[in-house]
Amino acid sequence: MRGTRLELRPDGLRHNARVARHKAGTSRVYAMVKADGYGHGAALVARALEAEVDGFGVAVLEEALALHQLGVERPLMLLEGFMNRDELALAAKAKLETVVHSDWQVALLERHPPSGPGLPVWLKLNTGMNRLGVPREQAASLLARLEAIPGVHPAGVMSHFACADQAEDGMSDTQLERLRETAGERPWSAANSAALCRYPQSHGDLVRPGIMLYGSSPLEGRSAAELELAVTQRLSARIIAVNQVAPGDSVGYGATWTASEATRIGVVSIGYGDGYPRHAPNGTPVAVNGVRTRLLGRVSMDMITVDLTGLDADVGSEVELWGDTVSVDEVAQACGTISYELFCQLTTRPERVIG
Ligand SMILES: Cc1ncc(COP(=O)(O)O)c(C=O)c1O
Repeated sequence: MRGTRLELRPDGLRHNARVARHKAGTSRVYAMVKADGYGHGAALVARALEAEVDGFGVAVLEEALALHQLGVERPLMLLEGFMNRDELALAAKAKLETVVHSDWQVALLERHPPSGPGLPVWLKLNTGMNRLGVPREQAASLLARLEAIPGVHPAGVMSHFACADQAEDGMSDTQLERLRETAGERPWSAANSAALCRYPQSHGDLVRPGIMLYGSSPLEGRSAAELELAVTQRLSARIIAVNQVAPGDSVGYGATWTASEATRIGVVSIGYGDGYPRHAPNGTPVAVNGVRTRLLGRVSMDMITVDLTGLDADVGSEVELWGDTVSVDEVAQACGTISYELFCQLTTRPERVIG
């Protein structure tokens, strides 16, 4: 066995959902499980959190239907809504809670009103992110049209923050003001993890945490540990060979690292073929037998090389890429990316185990 493992922790997910619930107060909490539960496995996350949250959010229909077929009974919010008439029919049949972000989706609902007790439909408003959402000038007429469609139950108005994670956030106040002005007395929803953690005025009727549930900090400059979030996945591998290199020797493709002194190098059974980021630079933290050390040389498809100098480690020793000793946020920072991407780009190759 190669020993490359992704340990997934349902207890950590539950702990983090309770942290989110506590911060949310009386607002409903929908856990975002899109992109296969941020790479953790949407089914595993939904099972773990079903008793902790009020609903789940996914991006696209296939993700919602997979959870529906699994027997998940909590509401499933379809964040990008239906893409065509067939998807609308499937969404209605599965009683999904759907978002509409464009006038063409409202027109489709008018032409094909859902039969049955009332499909919950949220209107997504563009409050400044300029990605998905209807323009504010059109919102009143689109809401009136939605509210007139038989078989539609207008669920409220929602929007998404562009900068809620940033310490210097110059946008959220304006975005929130615009959302509340449009929503009026209707239910509204705005908060992602960052806003849930630091912006209580934005909680509204329903909060939509994602990344914090997966044990990563949503806030610039604050660690997950400070926010009392638990680790939900630990990526590990094993040392499969050890080399001694002399001053002047280089390591790996492109010879991107050259020893300035005698160095013991561990070759580790993980690479970008497993989803470890290829652009991780020299110095990216890893832990060998629980002791922090660093990546040296370029990441290969199946292997990486790490500094074992001064460490009690040999072939077979365990190497943590992220988890308990090295946080995923540290690795993301070293790689110039975010934990979301590291989670989502793991391949099926590491063996999944439940911790
Ligand atoms: C519409 C919407 N709401 C909520 C979230 C959750 O965001 P986060 O994972 O930062 O909490 C996302 C994620 O991108 C989203 O697209």
